Amino acid sequence: MTLESARFPLLLSPYRHGSRLKLRNRILHASITTRHVRDCAPTPAMIQYYANRARGGAALIVSEPLNCARFQTRAHYARVWNADFEEELKSWAAAVESHDCRLLGQIQDSGRGRHERGRNAGAVGASALPDDLSWTVPYVLTGAEISRMIEDFAASAARLARCGFSGVELSAGHGHLFHQFMSPWSNRREDRWGADFEGRLRLVRETIQAIRAVTPSGFLLGLKLPGDDGVPGSIGPLESRSIASTLTSGGEVDYLVFCQGSHARTLDWHVPDAHWPRAPWLSLIRELRSACNGVPVAALGRITAPAEAEGILARGEADLIALGRALTTDPAWPLKSAQGREQEIRYCVSCNTCWGQIVAGSPLACDNNPRVARTDEVDWHPERAKTPRKLAIVGAGIAGLEAAWIAGERGHEVVVFGASAEVGGSTRLHSQLPGGESLSSIYDYQLMRAQSAGVRFELGQRAGLAELIAENPAQILLATGAEMSWPAALPLEWKSAVPDLRSAVRKLAELTRPQGGTAVLFDADHTEGTYAAVQLLQRLFDRVVLVTPRERVAVDVPLVSALGIYRRLSQSGIEILPLHELTAESDPERAQLCVRQIYSGALTTIAGVVLLTYSTPRVPQLELLEPLRAAGYPVRQIGDCRAPRTVLAATSEGHAAGLEFE
Ligand SMILES: Cc1cc2nc3c(=O)[nH]c(=O)nc-3n(C[C@H](O)[C@H](O)[C@H](O)COP(=O)(O)O)c2cc1C
Repeated sequence: MTLESARFPLLLSPYRHGSRLKLRNRILHASITTRHVRDCAPTPAMIQYYANRARGGAALIVSEPLNCARFQTRAHYARVWNADFEEELKSWAAAVESHDCRLLGQIQDSGRGRHERGRNAGAVGASALPDDLSWTVPYVLTGAEISRMIEDFAASAARLARCGFSGVELSAGHGHLFHQFMSPWSNRREDRWGADFEGRLRLVRETIQAIRAVTPSGFLLGLKLPGDDGVPGSIGPLESRSIASTLTSGGEVDYLVFCQGSHARTLDWHVPDAHWPRAPWLSLIRELRSACNGVPVAALGRITAPAEAEGILARGEADLIALGRALTTDPAWPLKSAQGREQEIRYCVSCNTCWGQIVAGSPLACDNNPRVARTDEVDWHPERAKTPRKLAIVGAGIAGLEAAWIAGERGHEVVVFGASAEVGGSTRLHSQLPGGESLSSIYDYQLMRAQSAGVRFELGQRAGLAELIAENPAQILLATGAEMSWPAALPLEWKSAVPDLRSAVRKLAELTRPQGGTAVLFDADHTEGTYAAVQLLQRLFDRVVLVTPRERVAVDVPLVSALGIYRRLSQSGIEILPLHELTAESDPERAQLCVRQIYSGALTTIAGVVLLTYSTPRVPQLELLEPLRAAGYPVRQIGDCRAPRTVLAATSEGHAAGLEFE
């Protein structure tokens, strides 16, 4: 299949460079760890993930990291350093390459880098210096061990070639082992593997040369390099230019891709979330490209839409487009772009749920793609139901909408009742907060599909028992969400004066002028939306104090996004009182709030409080449940009204409910 589109002529036309790089278009899938590997064996689900991206139109896919050296034993990476899984590797390569898509195996080691809690006991490294995040101090490799590691990497690359892979990518950025060797900040060796610029680059150079020596002439070799790792004394744009120029001078490298940040306080630069501008690294990439000796450079970093990608190519900022999360969210992104169906793409919302999942050890999952790695994932349409029936859904949030469009496309008659005049529920509210804009893609897509499937919407009034009974549906889905619970420490009489965070935000979002005074937020939520709301408070009040019973904030946000939250809260002067709880010993008349340190019991008074609000564990909205059951209707609860959880739970549960309605 060749993808061509008049709208995206550069992005979707074939690309050639030199004698090796021949691609059907300019779209690369950047490496994404799937956590579908079991005991070092590629699994059918893992292979399916890659086959789907190939079928969806990507021209080149970089695999997740592989265990290529003998000391690499991580069970969630496929083993290549011996022959144990050659058959699986061959199936993997065939599943991708049969779609005219090049599969490259990624060679990577995290070295001392670890973003989970605790130390990495098996870490190896250049020098006995701690990882910035986990304080892991690695075992320092000897020269002989480095040489053996290079031999292993090359032997594994040769095995991949024999198994049908088109090439390899060295992941030499992200603060991982290759990066640690290249950086003067983490490599303090005095031997030939450090000491100076040449020495620090030796590991990457010799690995490249060793791979070239044992692989076929057409074998592709890509390099992922740090552009700006943001760590003082490490690799900034100038050092990166020199590295890129040196490593591309020999003609061995087929493409480069620059990633940003390190395994340090700049970890959030790896996967810019929705608080970053779109494609935030373009000017840096363009600048670095001029040092790459004509070797093609792929733009990477929060590129989500085909028009953005086409613009990057048209302006000459890069030669290729590397998409990580965008292709996780929709593997048919290239196909739909080629067919002029960009509005049908399920767009990445840069929430980093995917990253949180894999770091927690769960298979890759996506807030806006409930079918990651399923056999029918590409351009999926549900099968029609045998017997069309009527489904009533109460709640037009993302759980209800997901169920609605699917049941509608399956041929059922669907009516959705929504209390608000607009769809999207609490996700719409979040989308109106700083950094929330992209979230609208979730419900915009659902609404578009529901409308084209003929779903009827009754919006702007709370549906009661009578309205639902009048519809006489075969089933009722309750998707009514959940509301924040009243903080137990506060007297109930304060209820009218102390709004929950959502109610506060609805009112405050309309204000244009600063209010002055102190706003206090009691945070027993720790998800991203709460901190987006804090940014709104910060714009409106002189002083914002965050009170939380936990030892720190943003505990339930993936670390890559939490770092951004810490940075924003710190830079905007938000005061944080960890390990504190609310008390009733306050004086609302005098605008004084009294909070207590949980363990010492010490009381602190916050003066001048003009707003006290709370973000707390939510309770399901279930007023209709018992009356509907009593009236004899089969009722199913989905999303937060089943149990208050995440966007991921809401979309996947709505998806299942829409499919399972018979
Ligand atoms: C869930 C997830 C897993 C990733 N795993 C890897 C990996 O194993 N190796 C790697 O080099 N990059 C990895 N990355 C980084 C991506 O390759 C890419 O650099 C990053 O996501 C930025 O691109 P994007 O904005 O298009 O997603 C991962 C990113 C995500 C979101």
